[in-house]
Amino acid sequence: MMNKGRIFSGMQPSGRFHLGNYMGALENWVRLQHEYECFFSIVDLHALTSSYADTSKLQENVMEMAIDWLSAGLDPEKNVIFVQSHVKEHAELALLLGMSTPLGWLERVPTYKDKIRDLEGTNKDLHTYGFLGYPVLMAADIMLYKATCVPVGEDQSAHLELTREIVRRFNYMYKKEVFPEPQAVYSKAKVLPGIDGRKMSKSYGNTIPFGASPEELWQQVRMMTTDPKRIKKTDPGDPNVCIVYQFHKVFNTEEANNIAAQCCAGSIGCVQCKKMLAEKMNNMLADIHIKREELSKKPGYIKEVLEYGAQRARVEAENNMAEIKAAMNIW
Ligand code: TRP
Repeated sequence: MMNKGRIFSGMQPSGRFHLGNYMGALENWVRLQHEYECFFSIVDLHALTSSYADTSKLQENVMEMAIDWLSAGLDPEKNVIFVQSHVKEHAELALLLGMSTPLGWLERVPTYKDKIRDLEGTNKDLHTYGFLGYPVLMAADIMLYKATCVPVGEDQSAHLELTREIVRRFNYMYKKEVFPEPQAVYSKAKVLPGIDGRKMSKSYGNTIPFGASPEELWQQVRMMTTDPKRIKKTDPGDPNVCIVYQFHKVFNTEEANNIAAQCCAGSIGCVQCKKMLAEKMNNMLADIHIKREELSKKPGYIKEVLEYGAQRARVEAENNMAEIKAAMNIW
């Protein structure tokens, strides 16, 4: 294995995964697992920072996420795959780091006030200690394993920058280079719009479920927004305003140009174009769908995989925690 360093990354278990999540992050992880030593965590404690009031779906969501990861091709032998709350050192380190993290650093995180504002008027009140501390918990995740690299989307770069500041402050304060400064690994995330052209998001009801069955997939592709000015097949279409074309560019790269030309010439109909897209997407999703169905029937196996991952994570976490406490003169 080529080893470019150690990766830590996490995802919040917040309901069924969609194709946008997959193309945005998981697809990268599947590739990165061959190049780095990887710790991938289902961060259920992070989910609690905003969904603390209703936890009725939490366990189910954790299981679903594990199934998604495995069916996408993350290898539980090659990577350490585990649930954050199964390794108690995450909470312990977050507490220790919280002692020295200035309030101002947390209040200045751009997503902090935005998210509180976004959820105003809903039943989620984010004026909590836990929500303010979200980035500290994330720093603890990364630092607990002394990760050197963190694959994140743009939306997480402020959090990662804060982690780096917390690392520098710790190493300086306790006069020991305990932690490396983690670097972001940005990858060319392919951005998929939802089937109506807005951002793909569960709250808009415009998602394509990850591991969709051929029927589920066709249902969503059939509904995709096309050029509204195009009424008859012979009308020339504008692919640039068509969601189907956006998807062809991602899932049907070789033929996308050709299809666009036929659309502009009014020689291909929208239904035919959608059928071609659904077929291409199915080639990729059918395997995932089958694997997902199989794994869904084996909750015992999924739990074993997660326990195995937690055991391996604990070894590393306990070792590093001992060093951290020694540096802080805690005994
Ligand atoms: N905050 C991340 C997100 O919402 C999830 C996360 C938690 C994470 N801990 C992490 C990502 C550590 C990278 C590293 O996407």
